[in-house]
Amino acid sequence: MKQLHITETVLRDAQQSLMATRMPTSDFIDILDTMDKAGYYSVECWGGATFDSCLRYLHEDPWERLRTIRAHMKHTKLQMLLRGQNLLGYHHYSDDTVRRFVTAAVENGIDIIRIFDALNDMRNIRTAVDACLAAGAEAQGTICYTLSPIHDLALYVKLGKEIAAMGCQSLCIKDMAGIMSPKECYDLVSALKKEIDIPIFVHTHQTTGLGYMTYLKAAEAGADGIDTAISCMSAGTSQPTTESMVYALTQMGYDCGIEYKLLSAINDHFVPVQQKFMEKGVFDPYVLSVKADALRYQIPGGMLSNLVAQLKTMHAIDKLDEVLAETPRVRKDLGYPPLVTPLSQMVGTQATQNVLLGERYKNIGKEIKAYIRGEYGRAPGPIDPALEAKVLAGGEKIEGRYAETLAPEFPAAKEKLGKLARDELDVLSYIAFPQQAMDFFEKRELEKALVADYTIREVE
Ligand code: CO
Repeated sequence: MKQLHITETVLRDAQQSLMATRMPTSDFIDILDTMDKAGYYSVECWGGATFDSCLRYLHEDPWERLRTIRAHMKHTKLQMLLRGQNLLGYHHYSDDTVRRFVTAAVENGIDIIRIFDALNDMRNIRTAVDACLAAGAEAQGTICYTLSPIHDLALYVKLGKEIAAMGCQSLCIKDMAGIMSPKECYDLVSALKKEIDIPIFVHTHQTTGLGYMTYLKAAEAGADGIDTAISCMSAGTSQPTTESMVYALTQMGYDCGIEYKLLSAINDHFVPVQQKFMEKGVFDPYVLSVKADALRYQIPGGMLSNLVAQLKTMHAIDKLDEVLAETPRVRKDLGYPPLVTPLSQMVGTQATQNVLLGERYKNIGKEIKAYIRGEYGRAPGPIDPALEAKVLAGGEKIEGRYAETLAPEFPAAKEKLGKLARDELDVLSYIAFPQQAMDFFEKRELEKALVADYTIREVE
């Protein structure tokens, strides 16, 4: 019987894709012990947008969340998503920060770190991979899947070989937009299997309706694992459904290792959570409908809803078609970056400005300029020469790793925070998201003061 691992995403990608990562720990803490018994190969529970969301919206310490999950899940591997040199943010951090952050994530409970670079520039995942291996965790090197005239099978196989040569213990094909077709997946997994020996995990979204078929073909091609979400938090812009995939694959002779009857208990737990967020309007049922258009526009579902929201706020929703046509042109000008965080937001915003201002690149975003200067790494293809000349204006382009030009960030951040930081983890939170972490620490101090005040009255 061929084994096929299941990674459950309800605590990270599923809630990030469906309800803007707004699930507090209190909404899932009671089901963690059951999830630990379900037989998942791993549970993706940290990283991505969860860190930012904890500090910004939920008034939760992200590190404490991780330790809580670890305390309740002793047997299942805990997995996180890391944006390479961007960590969990939107720009490159210094190597010293990356090393400290990765080490701390492992010390606080992470077993597997899925590490990607938005440009597939493997120089940008190396520091995180090395730190992950040094800390004794599994480094899962990642290929961001996209379609463009320069992204072909040969390029992906080359990237896969680089990942294996770097010492990663596994590889992930990350299809953040859900645009990888069953045939493309079959061909890619088969090609990689011929060239590398490490296990291959396939990650997709149900956005365009292809996900279930793509996973079946992944299994047929010999993939070692797939990412799925428990049913009430699955499909649409989230992952294909755990229960249905396990049901189908088991009949076909795959051993997913899952204790099937526990899946309904897990789903029963999340149904009221899902309903609560639907009533609040945070979980918009719109994200559940199939967006076959994404195959034409090549735009991830999350990016499409961002564009719609952005244009609505600007009372310019009538320009949507023009923005959708402009987006691939901007992407081409930039050398076909995969549309994944932070590039998806950057390209979408630039396309919107090009349309609304009535002139292309009249205003160029700060991050786009940084990208063109090479601060995000090497663009997959050539950048439009006129655009590049305009941004560089005679200045130098960075050819090496941008992180090597950055001074260590930790000492200054530690000094700035002083007593506000309880430990090294607070300093890392601050480096990752200065404003959000500062607000969080200040509120925490206030709560502490209130409790102290209350205690004094009690003894009076
Ligand atoms: Co995803």
